[in-house]
Amino acid sequence: MSTNRWTSAVEQNPGHSAWYIERFRKMAASGADLAGEVRFVDAMVGRGARVLDAGSGTGRVGGRLAALGHEVVGVDLDPALVAEARAQFPDATWHQGTIADLPGVLAAAGQDAPFDAIVCVGNVITFLADDERLPTLDGFARVLAPEGRAALGFGAGRGYAVADFLDDARSAGLVPDQLLGTWDLRPFTEDSDFVVALLRRA
Ligand SMILES: C[S@@+](CC[C@H](N)C(=O)[O-])C[C@H]1O[C@@H](n2cnc3c(N)ncnc32)[C@H](O)[C@@H]1O
Repeated sequence: MSTNRWTSAVEQNPGHSAWYIERFRKMAASGADLAGEVRFVDAMVGRGARVLDAGSGTGRVGGRLAALGHEVVGVDLDPALVAEARAQFPDATWHQGTIADLPGVLAAAGQDAPFDAIVCVGNVITFLADDERLPTLDGFARVLAPEGRAALGFGAGRGYAVADFLDDARSAGLVPDQLLGTWDLRPFTEDSDFVVALLRRA
């Protein structure tokens, strides 16, 4: 049966979310660079853009985009992480829910306007249950503005082959604008162990 890998991790270890939150607090306190994706997405959009952080976790990316003046809405499954994002980054709006039903979650939250950009980073797409992948990509296509773009980043060896991901994206009405191998703009090659996919509506 298809299971969500984040949910499984939390079920197997009820301390998983607290461990993850603490890990990112420590990295931030030690001065680690947690903003590579933020710089990338900020360069993609105009000032004051409407940005959806899909699988927003602790708000690491969306929170920093909000601090740059963007109107950020985050959606994440894990209530502990949503609470951390709300506490750390009150300038953005954070909702608990599944990105496999984005139109429903956003409509229930009164967030009907389309997004100039979607960020889905930190391997979020590889945590989805297999049967959540297409509905998630379909939701991205539905909530993206006509000229908007979605930026996804995930490790190539985490159970979702890049070719399968691109096929699924196409089925959902999303095509690649650019494929890169890193957030600092190295090219994507056959040997890349990471992909940064910039998708637009077909
Ligand atoms: C490794 S964390 C990355 C968090 C954040 N994007 C970052 O890079 O800091 C993976 C996140 O995916 C979220 N997630 C997994 N499946 C999800 C789903 N179906 N809907 C919403 N969030 C989901 C988890 O709750 C977790 O916060």
